[in-house]
Amino acid sequence: AQRIGVLTSGGDAPGMNAALRAVVLAAEHYGMDVIAFRHGYEGLLNNEHIPLHAADVAHVLQYSGTIIKSARCPRFKEDDSAKLAADNLNNLNISALIVIGGDGSFRGAHHLSNYWSGQIIGVPGTIDNDLFGTDATIGYSTAVAIAMDALDKIRDTADAMDRVFIVEVMGRHAGFIGLKSAMASGAERMILPELQKDKPLTVAALVKHIKRVEAVRGPGSYVMVLSEHQWPGGAVALSEQLEAEYDMPCRPCLLGHIQRGGPPTASDRVLASELGVHAVELILKGETGVMTGLKAGQLVAVPLIDTWTKKNPLDENLLRIQHEIFNPVKKPSRS
Ligand code: F6P
Repeated sequence: AQRIGVLTSGGDAPGMNAALRAVVLAAEHYGMDVIAFRHGYEGLLNNEHIPLHAADVAHVLQYSGTIIKSARCPRFKEDDSAKLAADNLNNLNISALIVIGGDGSFRGAHHLSNYWSGQIIGVPGTIDNDLFGTDATIGYSTAVAIAMDALDKIRDTADAMDRVFIVEVMGRHAGFIGLKSAMASGAERMILPELQKDKPLTVAALVKHIKRVEAVRGPGSYVMVLSEHQWPGGAVALSEQLEAEYDMPCRPCLLGHIQRGGPPTASDRVLASELGVHAVELILKGETGVMTGLKAGQLVAVPLIDTWTKKNPLDENLLRIQHEIFNPVKKPSRS
């Protein structure tokens, strides 16, 4: 039987187990054997592998994390690593490798393809949603749901105390989690990497906005969603500054890795199942060097290189609505 390899790499994302399950079930369906490498590319370099059968993955789709473990593997960038990985794959008679991960993992996959002639298929697994070619990555929906849930809870206490809160969310260099969670929770303000480029945040501008919102709505809470890496020292430093310099009661909240745990949403489980099966079908079609994605309801194959060299923009319509309509800084004109 044809033998395929699979690994999960980089930051884990809710739904990775569901994707793995789909890969194994589809492979068995089509008569292929599956070898999983543990700890991402580390396992590929260290020959740490296990066979996976349907029974091993039968009931894993409801759990986040990854049962075959993941890792960041900086040494995979080296040529010697890619050569070693190619040798290991050949020695195991593996003809195709499925990589479940984000852009770093796909760069690694591309690097490997310079030294290995087997088929390589990517499956988008990252909470950041920062891969071109798919409307959503596996894990994004769950991360947004977790952030929304946390923001709702913050709102309760913020409202009770008439406080400003700065809630820091993940997303690496992309504002997808920030935008969706801000909108879903009715946040007063969001600071996203994509918007920072044109108009970097200043404390003075933030204070002005807080005061204007208060003038329009009366005293109450003000919740700001801050994407990570957008302020030196993050939410903690920014809230300390507001208190110290403007005497404004303010509290920080860092959601951090909480955004990667707990039960994946139905959307993530279903997306992961579709993409996992599609990855196996792409192997059967003879494809290589592509990522499976879902674009406007259609399963697609996107060149791996495109996934990190091109960028999905934030939804313009959502940006406009969140900025202009939900959080007016002026009183609406009455006519
Ligand atoms: O890429 C997923 C992600 O959770 C990012 O949002 C975040 O910047 C990063 O990983 C955190 O990495 P680590 O888990 O290695 O601390």
